[in-house]
Amino acid sequence: MLPDLRTEIPGPRSRALAARLRAAESRNITYLDAEFPIFWELAEGMNVWDADGNRFLDFTSAFAVASLGHGATAGALATQAGRLLHAMGDVHPTEEKVRLCERLGEMTFGRWLGRPGKVILGCNGSDAIEAALKTAVLASGRSGVLTFENGYHGLGYGALTAGGMPRFQLPFRAQLADWATLLPYPHCFRCPFGRADLARIEEKVEGIPACQDACAADFARALDAAFARGNIGAVLVEPAQGRGGDVFPPAWFLPALRAACDVHGALLVFDEIYTGFHRTGPRFAADAAGVVPDLICLGKALTGGFPLSACVGRSEVMDAWPESTGEALHTSTYLGHPGGCAMALASLDALEAPGLADEVLAKGRALRDALRELNSPKIGDVRGRGLMIGAEIVMRAPEDLRPDPASSIRAVKAALRAGLILLAGGPAGNVLSISPPFIVSDEEIAWAAATIGEGLASAEAP
Ligand SMILES: Cc1ncc(COP(=O)(O)O)c(C=O)c1O
Repeated sequence: MLPDLRTEIPGPRSRALAARLRAAESRNITYLDAEFPIFWELAEGMNVWDADGNRFLDFTSAFAVASLGHGATAGALATQAGRLLHAMGDVHPTEEKVRLCERLGEMTFGRWLGRPGKVILGCNGSDAIEAALKTAVLASGRSGVLTFENGYHGLGYGALTAGGMPRFQLPFRAQLADWATLLPYPHCFRCPFGRADLARIEEKVEGIPACQDACAADFARALDAAFARGNIGAVLVEPAQGRGGDVFPPAWFLPALRAACDVHGALLVFDEIYTGFHRTGPRFAADAAGVVPDLICLGKALTGGFPLSACVGRSEVMDAWPESTGEALHTSTYLGHPGGCAMALASLDALEAPGLADEVLAKGRALRDALRELNSPKIGDVRGRGLMIGAEIVMRAPEDLRPDPASSIRAVKAALRAGLILLAGGPAGNVLSISPPFIVSDEEIAWAAATIGEGLASAEAP
C-alpha cells in the first residue's frame, strides 16, 4: 500500500521518543536530528506504521531482512514461543535446530556438490563470519585472510578486522589483529585501478567496458602478490558488496578467486549475508556466478526478522573442527534459538515459491529502469541485480561524478517526509541503497522511483 501520512514527519511522538533516546542511549548508536528518525510501531508486508500512526512504504526491507515482507514469519515464532522459547543450543538442543542445519546443508553444498554441508549457527551476521574465520584457520592451518576494500562483514572484532571500511576500524586499531590483507574490489563506476569511470567509457564490447581485460590483469597481479607473501588460508568476499555501495563486480571476478584459492590451497568464503536467499534473483549469488565456495555465511533474510545466522561449510572443511567432548570450542547462549530456527524454516519454505528468482529479477529491472528514466543529473549510476540496487548520487552527471553525500542524505530525508523509507550507503555515504521486499508491486515501484526523483530535485535546489 502507498503511504498514508497524518502528521508532519517525524511526528510529535517520534520527536518525543528521540529526545528520550538521546538521554538514555550511547550517543553513537542512533542518528537523531530534527528530521530523523521515525519510531516504528507496527509493520506488515511492504508497510511500516510509526508511533504517530503514519503509514510508510519500506524500500529497505529493514536492512534486507524482511525479503518476504514484514511479519511473514511471525506466525512461526508465535507458535514456537507458545511451545518452547529457549533451549540449550549446544547441550540439549531442539528438533528445529536439526531440521534447519539439515536444510541449510542440503540447499547449499548438497545441491552444489552432492554432499550436504555442515553448519555452525550464530546470532548475527558477524558471528557467522567469525565462525567461518575460525573454520578456515583450523582447516588450512594458515592465519592470513585476503579481504576487500569497502567490504563489510559486521563489527565484532574478528569481522571488523576483515572489513574494508577504515572508518569503522580506525578508533579501535590498537585492538585489531593483523591477519587480514586488503585487495581492491573491481568496481566499474569507481575503478580502483584508476582506469576509467564506466559512465565515461565510450568503447564497449557487447555492453562490457573495453578495459575489462586490463582490469582482470591488474587484479590478478594484486592477488598473486598477496598470495606470494604467504600464510594465506582464506579469501573472504561479498559476491556483491552491500554496505560498500551495492557494487557488483565483473563476471570474471568470482571465478578468478575460485581458481586462485584452488591453486594456493586456500578456502573461498562467500559472505552472502546480504545477497543470500534470492536478494539478487537466484537463491545465492554463488548460483548466479556458477562458483562454489568452501564456506558460505548467511543471515538477514534467513529468518525474516530474528537474530540468527549460519556459516555452512563443505563437510570435509567443517570436519576440521574436533568432536566436542562436552565443552564446545565455539558456541553461545542463544545458539540455535528455537524461535529463530522455526522462523528460518518457515522462511525457507516460503522462499521455495516457484518462479521467485525470475520475479525478483524482473522487479529489479523495472525499478532500475524507472530510476534511469528519471534522467536526474544527481544520479551518476544505477546498478544492481534483482532487488539489490544502488543509485549513486553525484555532484552533476555526466560531467562531475564526484560523490555527493549531502544530497543523498537530503534525498533520504525528503523521501521519508513523503512516506518512503530508504537508506544511504557506500564508502562516501552517497549511494541510495534500495532493497524492497520481494512482494513490491508495480505501482509501488513507480511511486517510489518518482518520489526519489522529487527528493533529488529538492536536494538539488539551492
Ligand atoms: C555482507 C554483510 N556481512 C555481514 C554483515 C553483518 O551482519 P550483522 O549486522 O547481522 O552482524 C552485514 C550487515 O549488514 C552484511 O551486509
